[in-house]
Amino acid sequence: MIVYFTGTGNSRYCAELLAETLSDEIIDSRPFIKDGIAAELISEKPWVFVGPVYAWQMARVFVDFIRAGSFSGNRKAYFVITCGAGIGSAGAYMEALCKEKGFEYMGTHEAIMPENYVAMFPVPDEEKSRRIINVAAKRLEKRAELIKKGESLPAKKLGGKDKLLSGAVNKGFYKHYVKAKKFYTTDKCTSCGKCVKLCPLNNVSMENGSVKWGENCTHCMACICYCPAEAIEYGKASVGKRRYKCPEYK
Ligand SMILES: Cc1cc2nc3c(=O)[nH]c(=O)nc-3n(C[C@H](O)[C@H](O)[C@H](O)COP(=O)(O)O)c2cc1C
Repeated sequence: MIVYFTGTGNSRYCAELLAETLSDEIIDSRPFIKDGIAAELISEKPWVFVGPVYAWQMARVFVDFIRAGSFSGNRKAYFVITCGAGIGSAGAYMEALCKEKGFEYMGTHEAIMPENYVAMFPVPDEEKSRRIINVAAKRLEKRAELIKKGESLPAKKLGGKDKLLSGAVNKGFYKHYVKAKKFYTTDKCTSCGKCVKLCPLNNVSMENGSVKWGENCTHCMACICYCPAEAIEYGKASVGKRRYKCPEYK
């Protein structure tokens, strides 16, 4: 079974490609997360968990979902982590998670997809995004062949920098940076409520027609990137920048 989390569609695209190639079921973790329900899932086929990297580790919100859930049946677990440039030593943390959950760790694939972190970086235009996705899709199809045969994914060679990024830098990033305080709406906001609906953590609400962010943000970028009026900004960092949505899902 393919289980995914996504903010802006990249991981959903990879999950769907795997589901098709492996003729397997696909499950979106976001409704469980939004409703605060621990998953109870059963699969005869290996588990494939697909999600974005946030500061060189699998998105914490998705790791928490896996940690809280029950996944019975097949004991093999593969991970596909989508990123803009690299995942550091995120695979080592997935291996540790497998020990905790009683899974047999089968490896982690680093899927380089378009950058979506508009609160920090510029994002590629649609043409460049499609080119990046095409390369990623070909690599992922090769990995799917290994999954089909029940083989392990090749391990990435790790350096000291990878360990530092996924370790101390990841911790500092969540502690100091992953906050919703800098989100605001401009006068382009039409109070349509799409951001409220899309937030996987129910952290966005509408009060008398104005959008408010709470304390429980994971920086998935869904609110800012899917706003139909491009009326959401993140401090000065997002102003004038293109928003990213996986071009497969408009
Ligand atoms: C909070 C946050 C942190 C990110 N950290 C990294 C990172 O450490 N390395 C990297 O290559 N990409 C990073 N990215 C880019 C995303 O991982 C990448 O674009 C991913 O494919 C987005 O997946 P999604 O569309 O399924 O949400 C980050 C994005 C966000 C929003």
